[in-house]
Amino acid sequence: KVPVITIDGPSGSGKGTIASLLANQLGWHLLDSGSLYRLTALAAQIHGVDLADEDNLKVLAAHLDVQFVAATESEPAKIILEGERVERAIRAEDISLLASQVAAITQVRQALLERQRAFAEAPGLVSDGRDMGTVVFPKAPLKIYLTASAEVRAERRFKQLKESGFSANIDQILEDICARDERDMKRVSAPLKPAEDAIIIDTSRLTVTEVVTKVMAEVEA
Ligand code: CDP
Repeated sequence: KVPVITIDGPSGSGKGTIASLLANQLGWHLLDSGSLYRLTALAAQIHGVDLADEDNLKVLAAHLDVQFVAATESEPAKIILEGERVERAIRAEDISLLASQVAAITQVRQALLERQRAFAEAPGLVSDGRDMGTVVFPKAPLKIYLTASAEVRAERRFKQLKESGFSANIDQILEDICARDERDMKRVSAPLKPAEDAIIIDTSRLTVTEVVTKVMAEVEA
């Protein structure tokens, strides 16, 4: 059995950063499940598939032609969709919004389920998302749920976008984060909530290093 650590939580709770540092430290694989919803959204935009067209969105999700290339010492990680590098394109705010809407569609979630489970390969997997501990890997021995206040999360997202060279407005980001939270928590299929056996960590006043140390302590426990 391949060990899996699940890291769930809302937008901007620090999941992505923590999951990738943890995977690095452990030498394990990493699943950024949000990128699959983002890729489905981008594919829909490219192919002109409408948000209301759930049947075709499902088909797009099931047949995503994507390659994840892990980072090396000299090169950052790459995501290649239909032959094009898209790791930057999938982070744009319009795709964030579309991804959040696409993720509310049960058929799309279903279509991505097995693809996500296939990431669990030796020696282990750190998976980052909303429903890793509740739906995708319900038997994972270690489940972490990260939270932070909406204001702190908006501030983090603002910095991240700026650093990547996107223009950003803090009030708009806070509004978007609240809207995304609401959609994440209210959707019928796999709503965002901590698994019953998850360890909940509020990261509002913690540095990245402090969070990684806390999680590593649980891994070693
Ligand atoms: O953290 P942020 O919302 O900016 O982005 P993300 O983690 O890349 O996720 C993109 C979208 O996919 C979010 O709006 C989530 O609602 C959705 N998602 C999901 O429904 N289930 C997952 N396991 C991961 C992401």
